[in-house]
Amino acid sequence: MTAIDPAVAELARWLEQARRIVVFTGAGISTESGIPDFRSPGGLWSRLRPVPFQEFLASEDARRAAWALTLSLHARLTSIEPNRGHRAVAELARRGRLTAVITQNIDGLHQRADPAQAVIELHGTSAYACCLDCGARYEIEPIRQVFETQGRVPYCTHCGGPVKAATISFGQAMPQAAMAAAERATRDADLFLVLGSSLVVHPAAGLVGLAKRAGARVVIVNREATDYDVIADLVIGGDIGAVLGAALAVD
Ligand code: APR
Ligand code: ZN
Repeated sequence: MTAIDPAVAELARWLEQARRIVVFTGAGISTESGIPDFRSPGGLWSRLRPVPFQEFLASEDARRAAWALTLSLHARLTSIEPNRGHRAVAELARRGRLTAVITQNIDGLHQRADPAQAVIELHGTSAYACCLDCGARYEIEPIRQVFETQGRVPYCTHCGGPVKAATISFGQAMPQAAMAAAERATRDADLFLVLGSSLVVHPAAGLVGLAKRAGARVVIVNREATDYDVIADLVIGGDIGAVLGAALAVD
């Protein structure tokens, strides 16, 4: 994909014209940093099984499997950096056009690309853990130490409740404040830019339809087709770093 590509040139024009851009990202924006996504060929869900929330609550074995997955993903995050796609999103913020970054990702790369960036994390974060009963916060590294040396999963030192990474698992309630903020920003957007999501997980994916109904231009940049392409105003099949980097002249 090059800057002279007509679709990229159109995207560049729309980004220039827009005043209230909402960026909505999925795992696809982080693959160029070396983190596999979930549903591409060879993606995480082709090799690992997510632990549904009810199973996590019901059995210590499920909690052990979930913590093994969390800690292996978390270990990768220490050696990766934001990529050109994250830097291009930060450029939109620098130009004063970006009203929100809504992400399904738990890797914190948007915040590392632009620490001033307010990011709405719809699926939580892997940066810390919480007690599911009293909400007490726990740092990951001490949990890793005990898990890796004694094989023990964490329980709350205040109330004994189960401690889980602060990510949202399948079957777990969405974070209400984050969802409300995402819906507000989406309703107010004049351009809704989807970057690297298969748009198959709800309610997050439903924001694309909400943006369209609210009158925003919808742009989808994704390697593969999605079910929402049919309502998008512009669909660009390509790598986010190359497409958005070229549209915004960001390396
Ligand atoms: N550039 C453009 N598109 C890309 C790139 C890239 N560099 N890398 C991957 N993609 C595309 C893939 O083609 C795929 O369609 O990004 C999409 C990623 O889709 P998923 O792997 O399904 O990830 P995501 O949409 O974020 O999943 C949503 O599902 O399992 C849950 O909680 C998890 O937040 C996640 C949610
Ligand atoms: Zn507790």
